[in-house]
Amino acid sequence: MDIDLEELTAENLTPHVIKVSTENVKNERLIELVTGLIQHLHDYVKQVQLKPAEWDAAIQYLTQVGHDSSTDRQEMILLSDVLGVSALVDTINSAQAKVNSATESSVLGPFHSEDTHTLTNGQSIGSPGVIGELMLIHGTVRSVGGFPIEGVAVDVWETNGNGFYDMQDPRRDGPNCRGIFQTDSRGRYYLVGVKSVNYDIPIDGSVGLLLNILKRNITRPAHVHFQLKHPLYLNLTTALYASDSEHITSDLVFGVKKSLVKSFQWNNNPAALINEFHLQEALQKMRWDGKGLWVLHHECVLLEK
Ligand SMILES: [Fe+2]
Repeated sequence: MDIDLEELTAENLTPHVIKVSTENVKNERLIELVTGLIQHLHDYVKQVQLKPAEWDAAIQYLTQVGHDSSTDRQEMILLSDVLGVSALVDTINSAQAKVNSATESSVLGPFHSEDTHTLTNGQSIGSPGVIGELMLIHGTVRSVGGFPIEGVAVDVWETNGNGFYDMQDPRRDGPNCRGIFQTDSRGRYYLVGVKSVNYDIPIDGSVGLLLNILKRNITRPAHVHFQLKHPLYLNLTTALYASDSEHITSDLVFGVKKSLVKSFQWNNNPAALINEFHLQEALQKMRWDGKGLWVLHHECVLLEK
């Protein structure tokens, strides 16, 4: 019996798969995404002449990335980060990059969490007894026109002074070194954190395996993450990086931008700052040794929607 079966070859397989994958789809953007994905995957396979054993290894690897992922461990984001995909998506979509005065964005990273504290200005994101040197983190959030913006939700997160995020600590009993603040009527945010330190990304999983095979750096430069939200302004995900970090030019997730590199300043007589930012209670709670504070200051500029 004659059957109408198209012989699929290396030449016609790609357009055939694209056709059957998109012929029942109406959404043009979905068609564009699926077409591009299939085309590039097929082109890659042909370009490198992928061997069956290599295909099998890749499937096993991606399966392992999935197994390594959980709500507390975003291995898939980490893979995207170390392959530069997160930085590329950030860069090509950054509205801030098109307006000189706007604060530049940076990668979200795998350690943002909804399990955080809602705090008021002047409070500490660290729990009492947190590891690390205390640091005042403060600044003003303004519009491009220079007007202070009240009511911006400023979500801040960083590692403990030991280089680990709270979610990496199996003994944690709640959020630590993270919190959400609201800017006051002068657009100010101010809080007590710990001086950021360089940290190694987790290397006991599939991304660590990849970095090991590629003999790549596993250390991120010291930084504090921020996510700013306000109903009238574009959301901003960014981070501030310590200028004195020896890893400032070798960030393994490619998040560092010149405008986000800051000098973390030591202040050995911070009485005026403590008064201005009402830090007395937080410092007492944090058992401050009275010897001085690190200070990270950054003025943020948001773009209107
Ligand atoms: Fe980070």
